[in-house]
Amino acid sequence: DWSMEAYRAQAVARIREQVGDGKVICGLSGGVDSAVTALLLHEAVGEQLTCVFVDTGLLRHGEVEQIVSLFREHFNIPLVHVDAGELFLGKLAGVTDPERKRKIIGGTFIDVFEEESAKIGTVDWLAQGTLYPDVIESVSFRGPSVTIKSHHNVGGLPERMRLKLVEPLRELFKDEVRELGRELGLPEIFVGRHPFPGPGLAVRILGEITRERVQILQQADRIYLEEIRAAGLYDEIWQAFAVLLPVKTVGVMGDGRTYEAVCALRAVTSVDGMTADFYPFEAAFLGRVASRIVNEVKGINRVTYDYTSKPPGTIEWE
Ligand code: XMP
Repeated sequence: DWSMEAYRAQAVARIREQVGDGKVICGLSGGVDSAVTALLLHEAVGEQLTCVFVDTGLLRHGEVEQIVSLFREHFNIPLVHVDAGELFLGKLAGVTDPERKRKIIGGTFIDVFEEESAKIGTVDWLAQGTLYPDVIESVSFRGPSVTIKSHHNVGGLPERMRLKLVEPLRELFKDEVRELGRELGLPEIFVGRHPFPGPGLAVRILGEITRERVQILQQADRIYLEEIRAAGLYDEIWQAFAVLLPVKTVGVMGDGRTYEAVCALRAVTSVDGMTADFYPFEAAFLGRVASRIVNEVKGINRVTYDYTSKPPGTIEWE
């Protein structure tokens, strides 16, 4: 007789046993895995837990406010919000190479997290939202023999900070984590959220990353997701997002010539992100999104749709 309610109680008991009276730090990313991890830990050890949210300035529109208010107001869990947007933008200035972007973001993230952790004092444990598929992937060889993308997560942190790991989601699949999130009272907007890469919008802004280009992409992406939700398609899609291209094209608006950036829209279905099919939107839907983006977002005058599946394309463009 297995229920999520029973699982929750069991997981909490196990965490208490493992952690004892040690201090725990948990990094929030805005995603469902880290949120569920933090909620479980909080239930288990209360004030022994400190949640740290490193805000890279590279999240989607409105997400920062959502995470901060979810924890502080909705759950009444103290949260350290590190506003590191300027730092990340500074380190990324002039960088266009995808792998360099990823390395810079991963390295800067670790620096900031370590610095915050030092302020808390002695920390013994790092809580991580590792899922069962991540566990399998790291022991059995599934991927291609070359690095396609250096994934950014909190890997590397535990050794450097000499922390022990507590990973309460290690035996769960994504759909089970979502179920557990519901059981813990996580709002649906978080529970059902599309996966989002660690390096955030940096790998969706092709070419140079500037504050202005981040804002342009956030607006286009917000409109796209709004329309997807309004059409009732959000839950059918594994991931949907806009990509800002480093290409300008000529357009006409009113009586005037425009010369602005191109934005690409991506949406895929997938089971695990390893393979994916492009989502077959109706033309009228894409037309509506394109027209809203060009009319409402200053800096974009053309929209294209990505019809590439994975393989041969990856889901993210960088
Ligand atoms: P690709 O682009 O490799 O992406 O087809 C597969 C899935 O992984 C996500 N992704 C990342 N997730 N850190 C993450 O935590 C990363 O650096 C990263 N890069 C890609 C991507 O969004 C998709 O779900």
